[in-house]
Formats: sequence, structure tokens, C-alpha cells
Amino acid sequence: MQESFLVATNSDIQPAMNAAATPFLQIEHIVKKFDEVFAVNDVTLDIAQGEIFALLGSSGCGKSTLLRMLAGFEVPTAGRILLAGQDIVGLAPYERPINMMFQSYALFPHLTVWDNIAFGLRRDGMAKPDIATRVEQMLDLVQLKPYAKRKPHQLSGGQQQRVALARSLAKRPKLLLLDEPLGALDAKLRQRTQLELVDIIHQVGVSCVMVTHDQEEAMTMATRIGVMSEGRILQIGEPEEIYETPNCRFVADFIGSVNLFKGTVDVDAPDHVVIAGTECRHYVSHGITGTTGMAVHVAVRPEKMVIQNTSPLDGERESAAEVGLNIVQGVIENLAYLGSLTTYHVKLDSGAVVKVTHTNAARHTVTHLQAGDRVHVWWCGSDVVVLTQ
Ligand SMILES: Nc1ncnc2c1ncn2[C@@H]1O[C@H](COP(=O)(O)OP(=O)(O)OP(=O)(O)O)[C@@H](O)[C@H]1O
Ligand SMILES: [Mg+2]
Repeated sequence: MQESFLVATNSDIQPAMNAAATPFLQIEHIVKKFDEVFAVNDVTLDIAQGEIFALLGSSGCGKSTLLRMLAGFEVPTAGRILLAGQDIVGLAPYERPINMMFQSYALFPHLTVWDNIAFGLRRDGMAKPDIATRVEQMLDLVQLKPYAKRKPHQLSGGQQQRVALARSLAKRPKLLLLDEPLGALDAKLRQRTQLELVDIIHQVGVSCVMVTHDQEEAMTMATRIGVMSEGRILQIGEPEEIYETPNCRFVADFIGSVNLFKGTVDVDAPDHVVIAGTECRHYVSHGITGTTGMAVHVAVRPEKMVIQNTSPLDGERESAAEVGLNIVQGVIENLAYLGSLTTYHVKLDSGAVVKVTHTNAARHTVTHLQAGDRVHVWWCGSDVVVLTQ
């Protein structure tokens, strides 16, 4: 996790956006230094109107700091932040059409749900009848009308979370910032609330930047994800893009699990590549930007591998060119039956361990492989990602 990767240009990180769409939020070369530490290090990022953008990364990578600069609670060391074309760096938090919901909801314990939602509106001096209308709208939106008179401690965690959201949306911000919005909820409730939250955000039409360290949450909720490490954004893309075509080892390893094989490019043809690895020769059925002799890593997701105790028939392979390639042998070190899938750790003859998952699609087709069995593990050339960083 400590390893840092140099990323060449910004266009590698963020694919070009639709030229017609002017970005709603533009973050340009933002830096935040605390003493000598770069908490956020040269982040450039465009967010479209109505988008739910998730910042994903391990603890301490700078997610909250970036969000706090958007909200105005931290002043950037360098860089610009434009909202609808206007530079907002000089504006105080209350002058920004932005609302931030914090890691802990910070509801006022002595106020009712109704008064919690009305709090910011009263402080802004909104007329009483207008406040009443707005609070009722918000209660409708988060489906808490029957709970209006309760105090926060009389609500479940999920209900408290919805009050906090209603309070954040009451002033109709143009940009909603969510820092670990569901961190306080247990796993089951979290999953349900993720979808409710997306629904509400879409209904209101607000743009949203959320921070999470839960990759499933980011993939469920976000239109795009930015993966952060040590103050930098390493890759930006739609969930599927980030998962299926990670641009470096950190992203491949951070999102889901991955088997990484070291190798050097041996054959570099336009439509395929062969990589000579320690474990096997790798056939890759697409071109790469690289040259013969270059050191690379070959990444294969565990669910894209096939595990069996017999060697595959030639006809089972994706193409004749793959026969004898993309295949390793080893012994099952341990396995975990997880219900919907089984995970195998296979120790290869080289000493490396690969992880293979098998989906238990039908009750009676569960494989009968056991720890200690000698197995063949193979995969398709089209399921491989070659990583140069
Ligand atoms: N006020 C501060 N003064 C000094 N250092 C700070 C301050 N705020 C944050 N940092 C440091 O900046 C780095 C990034 O912190 P930040 O809170 O943004 O991380 P994060 O990604 O939100 O982590 P987490 O997932 O744990 O919330 C950390 O090394 C942290 O110690
Ligand atoms: Mg944080």
C-alpha cells in the first residue's frame, strides 16, 4: 500500500468527458499541505451536473481533506475550485451552495426530527410558513413524516441517517458532500440505505461527491469512482471500467482481489501479446502499449479463472493459440465455502499462491475439490489485464 505510482498524464487517469457537457464542478491542481505532509497532492477532477462521484481509498489518503476543501473548511495550499464556472476558493462555507454531511451525523440530540431539519433554515432567517413547507417536503422525501416529533435517540441508525440527509438537503444545495454517509450502519441496513440514498439524490437532482472506503458501496452508488492513494488520484472511471481495466497495480489490488504475475513482453503483435512469466507463458488477446523485453505484471481476477483436477481439453480453450499458455498447476492449500461461491488458494509449483473463486450456480454442481488436491488453473487471454505501472 505504501508503494507510490507515477502517473504520466492526466488524460491517462480521466478519460475525456463529453465535450458538450460543461463540468459542473472543476477541481484544478488542488494541493493541501499540513506542515511537510501532502494530504492532497495535485488533484484535478471534473464532475458533471447530477453526478454521484465517489472518492475511494484507504485510511489517510486524503479523501476527507479534499471534501473539506470543497466545503470551505480547509483552504487549499494551491489550485482552483470552480463551481458552475465560479472560483469558490475565497468563499466561506456558508457562502457556498454546498452542504456537507459528516462522518458522524451530528444531529442535535435535544431537538426533534422536525427541528433538526428546520435548524439551518431558521438560522438563515427564512419565513416561518416557508420553513414549514420545506421541512414537510423533506420529511416526505426521506419518508419520516410519522417520526417528525421524535428525538434522534428514539430513531434507528438508518432513520437518523435519513434525518441527517434531509437536514443537508433542506437548503437545496447545488452540491452535496457526503463523508462516509453510511459508516454508522450495519452491513444489511447499509446495503438497503445505499439504494435509498441514490434514489433521493436523483429525485432532488443534486450533484454529489461522496467519500467511502467501502468499494462495494462506491460501485453500488456512484456513476464514477476516483481511486486515491497518498493524496493523489490514480484512476477515474465508471465502476466497471475501474474493475475490468485498472491502470496500475494499486488500483487492481485495491478494488476487489487480483492475481498478479510478473513477466516480460516476449511477443508484441498488434492483436496479441505473449508474456514470459515465472509461473507460465501468458497469452493476451489484445495489444498493449509496451515494447518487447519490457517488465510488466499480468493481472487476472479470481472469478475469471477455471479450476479443475483434470487438464483442459484443447477445444475448451478460447483459441488454439492459448493451448499450453495461461495455465498453471499446483495444490489446493485451503478453500473456503462461502455459500454463493467457493474460494480456493492454490500453491503453485513456483511457490506463488493464486486465488480462484468458483460460483456455486447450482446446488449439485459444487465441485468436489479438497485441500491437498493437485489441480490445473487456467484462464482466457481476453480476461487478462497487462499492467505497466
Ligand atoms: N488538520 C490536520 N493537520 C495535520 N494533518 C492533517 C490534518 N487533517 C488531516 N491530516 C493528515 O492528512 C492526511 C489525510 O487525512 P484525511 O482525513 O483526508 O484522510 P482520509 O482519506 O479521509 O482518511 P479516513 O478514511 O481515515 O477518514 C492524513 O495523513 C492526516 O493525518
Ligand atoms: Mg476521512
